Formats: sequence, C-alpha cells, structure tokens
Amino acid sequence: MSKTIQAADLRQRVASIIRAAGSSEAEANTVAANLVMANLSGHDSHGVGMVPRYIDAVLEKGLTPNASVRTVVDLGTLLTLDGQRGYGQVIGEQAMRLGIERAKQHGNCIVALGNSHHLGRIGHWAEMAVSQGLVAMHFVNVLSRPVVAPWAGGDGRFGTNPCCIGIPVQGREPFLLDFATSRVAQGKMRVAHNEGKEVPTGYLIDEFGRPTTNPGVVVVPQSNGLFGALMTFGEHKGYGMAVACELLGGALTGSGTWHRAPDAKRAVINGMLTVLIDPKRLGTQESFSQEAQAFVDWVKQSPAAPGFEGVMVAGDPERKARVARERDGVVVDDTTWAEIGGAARKVGMKE
Ligand SMILES: NC(=O)c1ccc[n+]([C@@H]2O[C@H](COP(=O)([O-])OP(=O)(O)OC[C@H]3O[C@@H](n4cnc5c(N)ncnc54)[C@H](O)[C@@H]3O)[C@@H](O)[C@H]2O)c1
Repeated sequence: MSKTIQAADLRQRVASIIRAAGSSEAEANTVAANLVMANLSGHDSHGVGMVPRYIDAVLEKGLTPNASVRTVVDLGTLLTLDGQRGYGQVIGEQAMRLGIERAKQHGNCIVALGNSHHLGRIGHWAEMAVSQGLVAMHFVNVLSRPVVAPWAGGDGRFGTNPCCIGIPVQGREPFLLDFATSRVAQGKMRVAHNEGKEVPTGYLIDEFGRPTTNPGVVVVPQSNGLFGALMTFGEHKGYGMAVACELLGGALTGSGTWHRAPDAKRAVINGMLTVLIDPKRLGTQESFSQEAQAFVDWVKQSPAAPGFEGVMVAGDPERKARVARERDGVVVDDTTWAEIGGAARKVGMKE
C-alpha cells in the first residue's frame, strides 16, 4: 500500500518535523527541499524516508542541528572543511558554495570535506556546480554500518561509497553520473524490504556470506544477530572504486575510514573529496563545447536495443522522473509514512 503526496505538502511535513527536532526554520526548509528533490528525482532511497533516521541521530547526538562548516585549511584553491556533524543538506551546500566561488576565481578548487552528517544524493552537489558552468567530481565514503562486502569477501567492510561526475554540455542537458559503488544503494534495499519485495540475485549475500534475494538481510539483524552485505557493482572494478572513495573521501579528507566494529548508532557520517574545474579557464573551451555536444548526440543516435526506448545519458532518468513526479506527486509506501509519523511523535509532535 502507498499514498501519493504532492511535493509541496511533503516538504511542509518534513520541515515541521526537522524544526521540532531543534533546527532553525531555514535549516528545516533546506533539509526538506533536498530530501523531496531526491524523491522527485526518482531516488526514494535518499528522500523523505531518511527522516526517521535523522531524528534518531539527533536524539542520539550523532547529528547536530544548526551546525556550519568550519574552515580548517584555506590555501585558495585547496580547502579543508569540517562539517561538525551538521545536517549534510546544509553542510554540503555551504561547502559547495565556498568551492564554487574559488573555482570561478582561480579556475579550479579541491574541497576536502570531513565529518558531515549524511550528504544525501551526491548528484545534488554536482548539479550546483554544473549550473555554474563547472565540472565536478565527488568521491564519498560513508561511516554508518559496513554494509558492503569487498570483492571475494564474505561480510561487510565499508559503506555504499558513492562517486559522482557532473559535466556541463553546452546546448544540451548536463551529464550527471551519480552512483553508489554497491550494486544498489542500501536505501533501495530498505524500500524493497518495506514493500515486501525480493531483489535480483547478485545484489546481496546473507549473514553467512551466501547469495540471497532477501533485502531484509541488510535492513534488520538476522538469526545470528549479524547482517548480510551488499555486493559492489562491476565485480573487482567496482570494489576498486569503492576503496578509492574510502581512501579519498574518508582518509584524505580527515573524515575517517572503516576499520572498527559497527555500533548501533543511527548517525551516517560522510566524507567527500570534491574536485571542481572551470572549463573556461583551460583554454579548451571551444573544442570542449563542440566535442562534448557532438559526442552526446552521437551516442544517443545509437539504435535502441530490443526492449529499450533508446539511449539516455546519465542525468536523463532523474530529469524524466522530476517532470512526472512534479506533476503526479510522490508515492510514499505505508511503512515509510508510518515511520515518518513515528519520528514526528519522537520529537513531541501530535501528528
Ligand atoms: N550520501 C551517501 O552516503 C550515499 C551513499 C550511497 C548512495 N548515495 C546516493 O544514492 C543515489 C542512488 O545511487 P544508485 O547507485 O542507486 O543510482 P542508480 O543506479 O539509480 O543510477 C546511477 C546513475 O546511472 C544513471 N542512469 C540510470 N539509468 C540509466 C540509463 N538507462 N542510461 C543512462 N544512465 C542511466 C543515472 O542518471 C545515475 O547517474 C545517488 O544519488 C547517490 O549519490 C548516497
């Protein structure tokens, strides 16, 4: 079962809960807008379903309302920032604003952001940069529970470590590649579990390291009290990407890496290394514009394979989803809606 809610109503509902948990009006609105945008973009795993988790994290003091980024090092085109466990929706925006300003000034900027609470859909940050004409690359690690198994391993050793690349293409929609290095995002397993669905083989191993199609193995503790794990995409290559995200997003930023036993805390800490480039400053602007546009057109002209409508580039599915969901509303499953109601009650709301 599910209900369909218009984006504006959903934003209002989420903002009121975040405010009741101690956030300023502005922060609550920013968090709500960001989460609903993830739903609109087709990524329910990173949308309003995260609210109960955020509220638990606030109550456990793993997430600090009304925090701001602190600049640790400023070398002009190199910024090291501490997110101070603030809402990632706010910390991410502040970090990106600083980086974008520097990249426009100097032609490039590297931003090492540590210790932010969950940064949500990483594509959101690339979209901020791309809308200003910049190329953006993001490498992110996730400290919450080691839910992804290394290639040839039998249990979870790191998070879903997303990687994102945004490239503006003149005269066309931007290329926006944004993916978890796990075969699927953990949040999608939560959604599948809430909806009582099985997932295809090759996504998961159970608590004994055996292949399974039950998404519950990474959502609720299993018979022996342990969890199963997600597998990486692309076998050993995706595994390599995941480790790169851990080393760049976790170690290089100062945010920290996985090498400890998981605890039961609900906070999700992201470290993110961002590389920003202003294509106008490389001296290749003209050929970049022409070549990028010609290439995207060329790729899309490939004849549709059987069963497909045609070729898309990364970013197209999210843009399509936004048009449909802005018009028709966002579908929220009953379990998620009930959990959001539970979060509201935890912060003293009467419904
Ligand atoms: N903050 C965190 O800790 C965290 C952790 C993991 C994932 N995430 C986020 O979760 C979200 C979902 O990740 P995912 O791996 O499930 O994404 P996904 O598998 O749905 O999509 C990945 C990418 O593939 C592109 N794509 C999808 N279908 C396509 C097609 N047919 N043709 C061309 N391109 C196509 C999309 O535009 C997107 O860029 C991402 O936004 C990611 O940033 C965040």
